[in-house]
Amino acid sequence: MAGAEMIGKEEIREVMDVLETGILMRYGFDKERRGIYKVRQFEEEFAGYCKAGYALGVTSGSAALKVALTALDVGPGDEVLVPCFTFLATYEAVMEVGAIPVMVDIDDTLNLDPQEIERKKTPYTKAIIPVHMCGSAARIDKIMEVARKNKLLVLEDNAQGCGASFQGKKLGSFGEMGCFSFDYVKTVTTGEGGMIITDSLDLYHRAEWYHDHGHDHNPQVSRALEGRTILGFNYRMNELQGALGLAQLHKLDYIVAEQKKNKQIIKDALAQVPGVKFRTLPDPAGDSATFLAFNLPEEGLAQRFQNMLSAEGVDTVCYKRNLWHYVPNWEHFLARSTASSKKYPFTDPTYKGKVQYTRESIPQAEDILGRTLVMGISVKMSPEKLNSIKKGIEQAAKNM
Ligand SMILES: Cc1ncc(COP(=O)(O)O)c(C=O)c1O
Repeated sequence: MAGAEMIGKEEIREVMDVLETGILMRYGFDKERRGIYKVRQFEEEFAGYCKAGYALGVTSGSAALKVALTALDVGPGDEVLVPCFTFLATYEAVMEVGAIPVMVDIDDTLNLDPQEIERKKTPYTKAIIPVHMCGSAARIDKIMEVARKNKLLVLEDNAQGCGASFQGKKLGSFGEMGCFSFDYVKTVTTGEGGMIITDSLDLYHRAEWYHDHGHDHNPQVSRALEGRTILGFNYRMNELQGALGLAQLHKLDYIVAEQKKNKQIIKDALAQVPGVKFRTLPDPAGDSATFLAFNLPEEGLAQRFQNMLSAEGVDTVCYKRNLWHYVPNWEHFLARSTASSKKYPFTDPTYKGKVQYTRESIPQAEDILGRTLVMGISVKMSPEKLNSIKKGIEQAAKNM
């Protein structure tokens, strides 16, 4: 639960600043707001934290993906490579802009396998969305290398990896653009919310305009007189979210450090269990430690161990059987049941590709995810709680 566990007086103070002005909107009302611009400040500090040129707050992580894809000019006729292990939102965002998601396999990092890019790309591929699932990095250095060689755009979905890095560089800052989610269960939460980062002023402008009906946000004129060059929509973050985000961002390094300590204790206990191995982390020091993923040699064994753990009160998830994070389990998606009765974008006449979503095309995920169990790590885990998890693991191992 991370950020949600940490809501306290700092969040209250930041939110009260906003409520005392009564200005809940991020734009306009310059006289009334008495210098309080929480979303703007959150964006500036977030960009600084990630060492990115620009940051744009939006209403959700899903909106962040859609706005970023729009800024990147991904649209009808295009294909986007997306790992088969991700939350549904990554696929939905691609379809929201009229493009087609192409499912690619994962590797032992549980994230997009860089070798899949050249195998699965077609003449229609425009972009890749590596997703840093469960708070840990994909092989982002390799992914960037292959993307550059093949002239493909990279949009990182870092909804789950806020605060994580690879070789000292924050996840989300490798590709053309990076997206974050601040929904209620994320490492930093604003209730609902999201952020886009980029080093490109051009992409930042396109995202900024699109997310607010095309407004160019010219500080010299009133909002009603602002110019516009493109049409857009409304994905604006509000000041209450900005206030929460600021307080939470100041706690992010502490959150990650505490999670790392808790994770290590549980990992040490699991390391004693015969056959248990851990997910490959391309850079363990950069892990956000929000989750601990481990595997057993066979799917049946993993299932048995999961049941034994559950009987001892230790919860884990097997994502191969999860309904929301594994493409082969999305029966509505496989049936192309988009919200449009015309099944857009799959029926878009500008799309010339032939996409398929078969389990046979993702053998590594079928194997690895079936054998992998994932445990959520909290910031606040008392010694008693950690002890009961350790005891539960020991007992489950004995019962195997
Ligand atoms: C990988 C991934 N991408 C995108 C999202 C969407 O974020 P939001 O819930 O803020 O829309 C999530 C949320 O769980 C996610 O896990």
